[in-house]
Amino acid sequence: MSIVWNDKGFQLNGTQFQLITNLHDLFALKDQEGLVLGKPRDLIETYLDLFSDFSAPRIFELGIFRGGSTAFFNELLRPEKLVAIDFMEDARPGFKNYLDTGANAASVRPYFQVDQADKQRLDEIYTSEFGSAPLDLVVDDASHMLEQTRISFNFLFPKLRPGGFYIIEDWSWAHVYDPGKIFDKNFGGQPPMSNLIIEIMLASAYHQRLIPELRIYPTYAIVRKGDAETGPGFDIAKQCFVRGTCVGGGDLFG
Ligand SMILES: C[S@@+](CC[C@H](N)C(=O)[O-])C[C@H]1O[C@@H](n2cnc3c(N)ncnc32)[C@H](O)[C@@H]1O
Repeated sequence: MSIVWNDKGFQLNGTQFQLITNLHDLFALKDQEGLVLGKPRDLIETYLDLFSDFSAPRIFELGIFRGGSTAFFNELLRPEKLVAIDFMEDARPGFKNYLDTGANAASVRPYFQVDQADKQRLDEIYTSEFGSAPLDLVVDDASHMLEQTRISFNFLFPKLRPGGFYIIEDWSWAHVYDPGKIFDKNFGGQPPMSNLIIEIMLASAYHQRLIPELRIYPTYAIVRKGDAETGPGFDIAKQCFVRGTCVGGGDLFG
């Protein structure tokens, strides 16, 4: 792995990535200048640090958009297979070009027109791509909606190996300073995604062998899976209690 920072972002294994500094960049940056990666530099640095000695042959990513993150995880971790889903129609041009010409792109298996809340479709994709082999890493940067994100978590978290990471990006939209009401426009009156982060936090206290480590940053959260069995019908909302009373599954702010 060789990374070289430059004024647009960085080059990794010879592929140029452009970083965004605001939401507008995610749409406005031109493909010709490099793959558009919808993440700020501090998150990239967290990933470089987190994965410096982490082996991830099997990765599942939710939320492709312009393809920068998919190519980034693929180049950084060089997995045997990286499955990525999105409910967009098809790959955007810059990502198509990476898939066609990237030296390491053969390991990427993109699936479009897939809703992250469609558990049956996730199951079909997981089973056809991985059989029953455990995942090493899941990154969810898709809808940022509470229920959809929870459905994906309940399906994919149990698939992780002990020591694997589940990362949820952009959980804090309901709580950030938003004078332009940008998040309000995007998420309307939806229940805050922080409900899920709180459920995971409470579940880590209740069931420490299931979630031995949780790092919550202002905009993203990193969950490490422990060695506890999850069993069929796993539901994170049923793992969190206040003095013995289950408090998950709803909207704590409602
Ligand atoms: C923030 S963008 C992903 C950016 C990308 N991960 C990156 O860092 O470059 C979010 C993507 O999630 C997709 N998305 C939104 N809701 C979804 C859903 N329910 N299921 C699957 N994908 C969804 C959108 O189509 C969009 O492409």
